[in-house]
Amino acid sequence: MKKIAILGFGVVGSGVAEVLTQNKKIIESKLNEEIEIKYILDLRDFPDSPFADKVIHDFDIILNDSEISIVVEMMGGSHPAYDFSKASLLAGKNVVTSNKEVVAKFGTELLQIAKENNVRYLFEASVGGGIPIIRPINNDLVSNKITGIDGILNGTTNYILTQMNENGTSFADALKDAQAKGYAEADPTADVEGIDAARKIVILSSLSFGKCISPEKVSRQGITQVSTEDFEIAKSLGYTIKLIGHAELINGKILATVSPRFIPLSNPLAHISDVYNGILVEANMLDKVLFYGKGAGKLPTASAVVADIMDIAQKMSNEQAPIIEWTNATDEDIADINDYLCKRCIIANGEAIITEKINLADAEKIAASYSANYKIYSIL
Ligand code: HSE
Repeated sequence: MKKIAILGFGVVGSGVAEVLTQNKKIIESKLNEEIEIKYILDLRDFPDSPFADKVIHDFDIILNDSEISIVVEMMGGSHPAYDFSKASLLAGKNVVTSNKEVVAKFGTELLQIAKENNVRYLFEASVGGGIPIIRPINNDLVSNKITGIDGILNGTTNYILTQMNENGTSFADALKDAQAKGYAEADPTADVEGIDAARKIVILSSLSFGKCISPEKVSRQGITQVSTEDFEIAKSLGYTIKLIGHAELINGKILATVSPRFIPLSNPLAHISDVYNGILVEANMLDKVLFYGKGAGKLPTASAVVADIMDIAQKMSNEQAPIIEWTNATDEDIADINDYLCKRCIIANGEAIITEKINLADAEKIAASYSANYKIYSIL
């Protein structure tokens, strides 16, 4: 039997308990052993929950309990999630997380500590919610060189952009709708400003290219300036607009961007709607492969977390499993945004100009020659 502790009993944490309970038989038959939730750490009590007797408030109980071999960090935010994860790994416990903020900021260090302590740090649910993407890149695509990634990585913004595209809803109204439906947080900054997507593209580019750039180094633009008029222009030219996390190597240097982009309707990403996510990975032997599914939500995300728990239950040590490893990128490893050439759509005076492949600085010069007020969308 493997005994686990869940840190944080919010949406995903309680979803993990639900998946482990609802699918108990199928999980046990696949593992040939039981997974038991021994502790749930939270600041709150949950007197009406069937797991009420597991709830504790002191992390040290978990840290000092040698029976706990897997810690499931579902807290969100950097601290104390990072601190508890680090302490758990140093104590020889495996850690599973869905926390993209911690993986993007501290993943290099935590993976190294896991390696040194012969345990595992897994984070399948940190990108794409329930969509398998981390393990496929690390395991199944291992014979390929990844050449590029384009992903709709944030469900909330995809929902907002879908409403704007399909119903002509304004950004402000679509955001209110997303909040009412519980997709967007009361403070939607991390979603609408592309911060969440930037963390996710950092994780994917680290896995793909072996170097982790800091999320602050991602060239990032959110969706707050996208208007319904921009959608009308895009439509008239055979495009739609999606918030895309993009990563590629330019002359061996990592380019990572998050921005609203014009997507030709012939591209499958153009048709990924509502809160769904889609990640198009380009690999040198396989060519393009699309990962599509529910990128957020309690049970989809929890199912990916439980898959990591089961993976660890089968292969407890780093020596038995395909290792995830990357180092921190230096400034030398990061491409200059102006080395990135792509077609662009310049919108000025209500008119649209489609350019050849040019860099951002040249696009800005062209745009400024038309009007002081312009927008530039890169085209995928
Ligand atoms: N806020 C995120 C989203 C949650 O909307 O995609 C899943 O990471």
